[in-house]
Amino acid sequence: MENGGSRQATMAELQEVQITEEKPLLPGQTPEVAKTHSVETPYGSVTFTVYGTPKPKRPAILTYHDVGLNYKSCFQSLFQFGDMQEIIQNFVRVHVDAPGMEEGAPVFPVGYQYPSLDQLADMIPCILQYLNFSTIIGIGVGAGAYILSRYALNHQDTVEGLVLINIDPNAKGWMDWAAHKLTGLTSSISEMILGHLFSQEELSGNSELIQKYRNIITHAPNLDNIELYWNSYNNRRDLNFERGGDITLKCPVMLVVGDQAPHEDAVVECNSKLDPTQTSFLKMADSGGQPQLTQPGKLTEAIKYFLQGMGYMASSCMTRLSRSRTASLTSAASIDGSRSRSRTMSQSSESGTLSSGAPGHTMEVSC
Ligand code: BEZ
Repeated sequence: MENGGSRQATMAELQEVQITEEKPLLPGQTPEVAKTHSVETPYGSVTFTVYGTPKPKRPAILTYHDVGLNYKSCFQSLFQFGDMQEIIQNFVRVHVDAPGMEEGAPVFPVGYQYPSLDQLADMIPCILQYLNFSTIIGIGVGAGAYILSRYALNHQDTVEGLVLINIDPNAKGWMDWAAHKLTGLTSSISEMILGHLFSQEELSGNSELIQKYRNIITHAPNLDNIELYWNSYNNRRDLNFERGGDITLKCPVMLVVGDQAPHEDAVVECNSKLDPTQTSFLKMADSGGQPQLTQPGKLTEAIKYFLQGMGYMASSCMTRLSRSRTASLTSAASIDGSRSRSRTMSQSSESGTLSSGAPGHTMEVSC
């Protein structure tokens, strides 16, 4: 009995272990040199870091991170993932840090009026003008996904595609506010932000990843600035996406969310409001709240498909495995013969296979 009991406990523990994909850069694959810039905008100064050199006739990849993070803590695991290199070497990357989130940022003075998410979106044209870049493919997480969507609504012609992870396009309703206030009575700002980034299951599992991010956020020297970004996120306006309406994203969009992630319902609802001929939906199992940290390999593969659908990844750049998958995708698409139908993209976490799916279609991924 006792043995059986302890064996059961071990199985339960095993089930809670989340395996983070790891595939660091190969020896000789060194990260590219980064150059950090700041520009003044009508809403204050904004800092961004550029990797790579502009490629003729190609958009820049522009990233925007979530609350509690900066560009490095949000995107480094993804952009330094081994397989990601064959993608990003074809693009210059601009990683924006929300004001006050850049490394070494001084704490804003008391009473400082932090920009709203809409104003943060309005800073992006200043960055692109400074760099002389005309179009982008945006990759955003949480608040960053909202900011890039707002930017895309206002500057459609400059956005070629969007990868939106954990987007919640809705303003907080009174129920959300009540819940938020109640949580605020018993939780610190850092715990509330951790609850925004990660699922409750992940937080109570307290993996190394959670310990790392809890430590980063709790001991952040700019925690007061982080709270300002958090407040702007919670005061966001509704993006008012409307399927078939005027307020919609016109470019190809890939929506990404982990199943069990805090924003799963919001992303599902967002998917229902966007144009199905332009939207792909990637729901990743076993990835928790931050798929770009825990599943960079699967996300890399999905991004590869997305870019390929936009005509940016020549099939010679695809891995052998990806090429065979793409072949089956292409034949599926030609059988269907219509861009207006929703498509299903399925991905298995066990085999690591990814079958069917293309940007410009609704994909559902269950792992
Ligand atoms: C990049 O290569 O774009 C990158 C490298 C390190 C951190 C984030 C992005």
